[in-house]
Amino acid sequence: MSDDREAPVKVALLGCGTVGGEVTRTLLEHADELAARIGAPVELAGIAVRRPDKHPELPQHLLTSDAGALVESDVDLVVELIGGIEPVRGWLLTALRKGKSVVTGNKALLAEYGAELSAAANESGADLYYEAAVAGAIPLLRPLRESLAGDRITRVMGIVNGTTNFILSAMDSTGASYGETLDEATRLGYAEADPSADVDGYDAASKAAILASLAFHTRVTAADVHREGISGINSSDIAAARRLGRTVKLLSICERVENEDGSESVSARVHPVMIPRGHQLAGVGGAMNAVYVEAAAAGELMFYGQGAGGAPTASAVLGDLVSAARNRVAGGRGPRESAHAALPVRPMGRTPTRYHISLDVADRPGVLAQIAQVFAVHDVSIAAVRQRDKHSTASLVVVTHSAPDAALRATVDEISKLDVVREVVSVMRVEGEES
Ligand SMILES: NC(=O)c1ccc[n+]([C@@H]2O[C@H](COP(=O)([O-])OP(=O)(O)OC[C@H]3O[C@@H](n4cnc5c(N)ncnc54)[C@H](OP(=O)(O)O)[C@@H]3O)[C@@H](O)[C@H]2O)c1
Repeated sequence: MSDDREAPVKVALLGCGTVGGEVTRTLLEHADELAARIGAPVELAGIAVRRPDKHPELPQHLLTSDAGALVESDVDLVVELIGGIEPVRGWLLTALRKGKSVVTGNKALLAEYGAELSAAANESGADLYYEAAVAGAIPLLRPLRESLAGDRITRVMGIVNGTTNFILSAMDSTGASYGETLDEATRLGYAEADPSADVDGYDAASKAAILASLAFHTRVTAADVHREGISGINSSDIAAARRLGRTVKLLSICERVENEDGSESVSARVHPVMIPRGHQLAGVGGAMNAVYVEAAAAGELMFYGQGAGGAPTASAVLGDLVSAARNRVAGGRGPRESAHAALPVRPMGRTPTRYHISLDVADRPGVLAQIAQVFAVHDVSIAAVRQRDKHSTASLVVVTHSAPDAALRATVDEISKLDVVREVVSVMRVEGEES
């Protein structure tokens, strides 16, 4: 039962589409339960949408197209589910500066302007919550920010984009091309009409920036994240991975790396990776998300669930809304963002990675020695070599040990120019144990 002696917490909802619609439904249908959990009723004071006339399903007296005025009105809490940078950034800064807590699922905004929003929240004592911005329904940011705050996180690695995971999983199970699978994903509603934010890795890079910032107490922006998408992946890459007992995933990888002088840096990157089929992330199929965390004391942790969709994402938004409203009722605030470690971000070229390289080479003596010489020149050591893959044009497959990414790239570049190399069939980074 609600405690109606408490003044209601007045909420402004900006955006009422896929996620906002579900948030509204819960706020209206489960008002009593939410009030009991918060200790005060939640009053939905207004809903801003772009086209109010297109929303006959919503209480008409709450609708407005003027999100700015709604933020300035007498509300305590702003829930932003519009997306994009401007004009949303201005509205949220206004809210925070006026001491109104903000709940948002806007990864692009947080990955670029997280520091500015966080500073505004700190100055006024308001809360800034954004669990929905990474991995939809999965409680992930709160564990990083709160549950693991006393531990030392060394790595956060995961599948945080459902569209690309759907495409890669389907390519793996059907053998279809990238283009055919993208068409199918679009037809089924897993890919947007313009899929570039997903397939080119921008969405995953924003999420990697948010994860790295929280995990390593360091401000990391989307521009700091090395980004490669999946549009260059072809059926022969997938087939090569399969023959090695591996599968291809688009991973966001955030790591604490040790520098030569013993100090530390942060590395954050998004790119396709071959992982062993027995790896925890290999079995994550379709549009699901999963994130694997390694911490010094906690060891290995795995978070898995629905990374998108109206209801799953609304679950994360409502959890944040309840927290922010509880803080308001209790007169406190949630944990502040901490960027105290301020570790430098290591450029991709200096980040240690491992490569899997499939080559079509001339069949004559001395070829292997010539290729091995190029690896030696770039100080890249070879972990495994396989010759003659009768299932493809590749006659030589090399898996390297860990080396700086720039050295690996330079090695591939030079090998591709050798006259004994007819074709570089596939090049991909690998993670996990050697197979
Ligand atoms: N969808 C997901 O699965 C998911 C998952 C995680 C995070 N998110 C994040 O959640 C946010 C919302 O996503 P969504 O999928 O719900 O988006 P959506 O379905 O496109 O809804 C956007 C809403 O914003 C409204 N809007 C757009 N411009 C506006 C403006 N200038 N003033 C007022 N209202 C405006 C739209 O109004 P109209 O309805 O009138 O067009 C619509 O109601 C985004 O930041 C997204 O990245 C989404």
